[in-house]
Amino acid sequence: MDYKRVIAQAIDIEGVSKEEIYATISVPPKRENGEYCLPCFKFSKALRLSPVAIADKLKAQIVLPPVVRSVESVAGYLNFKLDRACLAKDTLCALTQKGETFPPHNQNGKTVCLDYSSVNIAKPFHIGHLLTTAIGGSLYRIFNYLGYKAVGINHLGDWGTQFGKLVSAYKRWGNDNDIRTRGVAALSELYVRFHTEAETDPALDEEGRYYFKKIEEGDEDAVRIFEWFKKITLEEVQKIYDRLGITFDSYAGESFYNDKMQPIIDELTQKGLLSESEGAKVVNLESDGMPPCLILKKDGATLYATRDLAAAVYRHKTYDFSKCLYIVAYQQNLHFKQVFKVLEKMGKPWANDCVHVPFGMVSLEGGASLSTRKGNVVLLKDVLDTAVDKAEKIICEKNPALENKSAVAEAVGVGAIVFSALNTSRIKDMVFSYDKALSFEGETAPYLQYTHARCASILQKGGFSSPERALPSVDWNQLTDDATTDVVTLLGRYDDVVADAAQKYEPCLIARYLLDLAQSFNRFYIDHRVITEDACATNARLLLTACVKATLKNGLRLLLIDAPEKM
Ligand code: ARG
Repeated sequence: MDYKRVIAQAIDIEGVSKEEIYATISVPPKRENGEYCLPCFKFSKALRLSPVAIADKLKAQIVLPPVVRSVESVAGYLNFKLDRACLAKDTLCALTQKGETFPPHNQNGKTVCLDYSSVNIAKPFHIGHLLTTAIGGSLYRIFNYLGYKAVGINHLGDWGTQFGKLVSAYKRWGNDNDIRTRGVAALSELYVRFHTEAETDPALDEEGRYYFKKIEEGDEDAVRIFEWFKKITLEEVQKIYDRLGITFDSYAGESFYNDKMQPIIDELTQKGLLSESEGAKVVNLESDGMPPCLILKKDGATLYATRDLAAAVYRHKTYDFSKCLYIVAYQQNLHFKQVFKVLEKMGKPWANDCVHVPFGMVSLEGGASLSTRKGNVVLLKDVLDTAVDKAEKIICEKNPALENKSAVAEAVGVGAIVFSALNTSRIKDMVFSYDKALSFEGETAPYLQYTHARCASILQKGGFSSPERALPSVDWNQLTDDATTDVVTLLGRYDDVVADAAQKYEPCLIARYLLDLAQSFNRFYIDHRVITEDACATNARLLLTACVKATLKNGLRLLLIDAPEKM
């Protein structure tokens, strides 16, 4: 039930549309002011009346719809109190219909492309990749839930001279067995060694270029080696993706666009957008206040931006997206601004639908270095493993009798890491601490998972079988006190919050919402015993508990986090 709609329908303001009234209605910060309010400041100018006078006037005129219990005019606000029994009934009935796994909204016919994780071949998957992977993977689930067709794209970094260098290093010092057993670690060591030795032996760089040319020309041997490195890298990251519940619909990376760049270069030339600069070909962006966008190097080689132009055109042609999101660190702000600007200059009407979704940096408490050149990176796998180990210790202490402790520890440990990545607004830099992330009391995944498991145990103790069974006999007047109404109101906001998170590309809005919900449920639980001698109250409160449990579980799912039944 959309109460805002019902309230907007009951309010008439001359010269103001229902839509605008609807959009103005919000939730009062203080509960004593009711469930919804209409700030009247906005209409002052049009009506030439003070907000207080407007609110007074509207209060006098309004005919209250049945779900609204009362309306007050307070300091320029019109405050609405709902009939709480009605509110509880509508909200819990609607939630019950969604079942345990909330079904996605009806397909809206729109496609959203999401470019996330986008790993680099033969480079370690380090903690710096956590944010793009978690934010992208979460947005992917969020858009799917809202009825979009989400297309997850791993735009692999699998092109460039560095791969010639890697092949050269492999030819010189590579050991197949070592590469087979240690995978990317061995490859990135080869790469590091190449750089160190190239400092004293300039012939190496030449050799690197030679092998890259071989790859470009499709030389069988060079390509076979390169493909092997690619396979090794992808197998390794796949293990992480499986743990995080991340999926992709396409792995079309940079090399995929090799044969798709010439048409772009032709189009740029034909539209008179290419100019020469020190032998290179660029699109001048001076009038847009940006440095030129490099399209071709002096030697005719293409660049990262050239491939992104080809990729955007390809994605639009293939998926006809309504949005194409790039979940990439803010260090690439300029790159994406340039690429989108060039698309605009090429006259692509959809250039505006390409959106860079930037995020800040992650570092570990204690300041461990994240640099790849020297090879001393913090691997995401190690971070996950450490968190899972710590989680297992905590679980053994708190609940030694728990079955499948290691599966629960995996959910809690990995969940803790993912949640800490998703719980701050994207753009903030984040300093990560194991202890904070794993705390059962703070603003953490374990706290949410624990609240979910608590709900499960209450339902089990109360012999709750299913919401459908409970519904017919619920006395809604049992669910009208303050603490309960807080929970009910939050439950009713789930879909709004998810939609808001999608619109702002901020999964953290869901994270905060779930924390609010868990906190308000835990306050409710302090105020009320759920299971009492009063069967009528018990029945109603069990249903509420079941709805909280389902909402926590589904919300956590959108954040890539599992919620075990027992902890
Ligand atoms: N592989 C790149 C990096 O690690 C990120 C690619 C992002 N996606 C894109 N279409 N440019 O920096």
